[in-house]
Amino acid sequence: MPEHEIMSKKLYIETYGCQMNFSDSEIVASVMTENDYEITPETGEADVVFLNTCSIREHAEQKVLNRLRELQHLRNARPGMLIGVLGCMAERLKAALLEDEKLGMRIDMVVGPDAYRSLPRLMTDAETGQKAINVILSADETYADISPVRYAAGGVSAFLSIMRGCGNFCAYCVVPYTRGQERSRDPNSIVSETRQLAAAGYRELTLLGQNVNSYRWEVPGSGRIMGFSELLPVVARTDPRMRVRFATSHPKDISDKLLHAMAEYPNVCNAIHLPVQSGSSEILKRMNRKYTRADYLGRVEAIRRIIPGCAISTDLIAGFCGETEADHQATLSLMEEVGFDFAFMFKYSERPDTLAARKFADDVDPATKSRRLQEIIALQQRLSLRSNEADVGKTLEVLVEGPSKRSGAHMMGRTSHNKVVVFPGQAYKPGDYAGVHITSCSSATLKGNPISQ
Ligand code: SAH
Ligand code: SF4
Ligand code: F3S
Repeated sequence: MPEHEIMSKKLYIETYGCQMNFSDSEIVASVMTENDYEITPETGEADVVFLNTCSIREHAEQKVLNRLRELQHLRNARPGMLIGVLGCMAERLKAALLEDEKLGMRIDMVVGPDAYRSLPRLMTDAETGQKAINVILSADETYADISPVRYAAGGVSAFLSIMRGCGNFCAYCVVPYTRGQERSRDPNSIVSETRQLAAAGYRELTLLGQNVNSYRWEVPGSGRIMGFSELLPVVARTDPRMRVRFATSHPKDISDKLLHAMAEYPNVCNAIHLPVQSGSSEILKRMNRKYTRADYLGRVEAIRRIIPGCAISTDLIAGFCGETEADHQATLSLMEEVGFDFAFMFKYSERPDTLAARKFADDVDPATKSRRLQEIIALQQRLSLRSNEADVGKTLEVLVEGPSKRSGAHMMGRTSHNKVVVFPGQAYKPGDYAGVHITSCSSATLKGNPISQ
């Protein structure tokens, strides 16, 4: 052993927020491991702790601040340990995160989502005791040439960012401010990463963007524009054994052409996440969503016509500015009308400097917001149960992800509709496809038995 063996330093990364952030943490892991850091799953042995943060709701930021306070204790036990705040909160709060007195704690590094290439330089500053910050947003950074290190993935299902930023400026949303302008990634780099994932044994790929339907790549020299409905078939053809999903679709521009492409390729999953936010055209207008209730229902009709049986999931916000009881009822009735298979449901949380914060009063009182959210959740539970009950008796193709959390003798996996299935599966390993006969369900899970292979 060499006398002065260079010990690599240990980095612990914790990720909050959306899939894009998880995907970004894999970029961060790549940049850091290229620079002599090793990823550790233990905070206790970390030389550096990064929190990759989310600003989408106030609660998301509170969670991070609480975690940062906990980490200060850990630092007391491990002098020299560095703490970095990355991602959307870093971008939103910038240098305010470096004011120890005001914050009541010390943060060493603040790094925005477009600044991860500068991490090695920032680390050098931080290691010599200087605080380091880079929150410059870029118009063209896509990290296309950086191979993400999928350090926490289970080896079956991977996420791949095809775009960054967002230009939609929905009134309530902080993302255009924290992630900057919308930009698409070179399709060649998307295809080569898809190939690498397939070769590494991955069986499912989710293409990520805040609004994948506005993917736009100008093919150099040809003037030809490649949109998402052209990109999806290219990715799907790369490996027919690889399932392909994507998120998120904005209802204002999900085209029939894309739906036809989905229908054509059997490995593109029959599931669309189509956030509606509200069932009231009045509220949608105030949210700057650029579609009406009727437009949304029109898109649902097109999905059902072109991809029969396609699962549709959504996001809903309860208690946006000026939401009346009638608006809320419109949300409930739209949910019934569509019969969503699954939904993420939130109380409106005002975010500083967004259009809504500047223009409208956050005037639905907290008790009413909570009650409306509860009604939305209760209704969705019934709809999810109904959707799952409709699968009982069917045999579905399940991509096995790993052992079920509840019982070691059971495996869990997902259907093309993205529903979780639990089944006795000693004969299966992660990455296998299993035909499972569904025998029972709850609103969250399907249960069944594998049919003999
Ligand atoms: N780009 C995606 C979603 C991004 S954020 C889209 O356009 O659909 C994920 C979800 O968080 C949003 O769909 C919305 O339902 C919710 N959300 C965003 N800002 C919010 C806020 N200020 N308060 C409550 N929920 C919010
Ligand atoms: Fe936010 Fe709207 Fe962009 Fe989605 S599309 S990230 S909700 S601004
Ligand atoms: Fe949160 Fe940023 Fe994603 S605000 S939801 S981590 S883009």
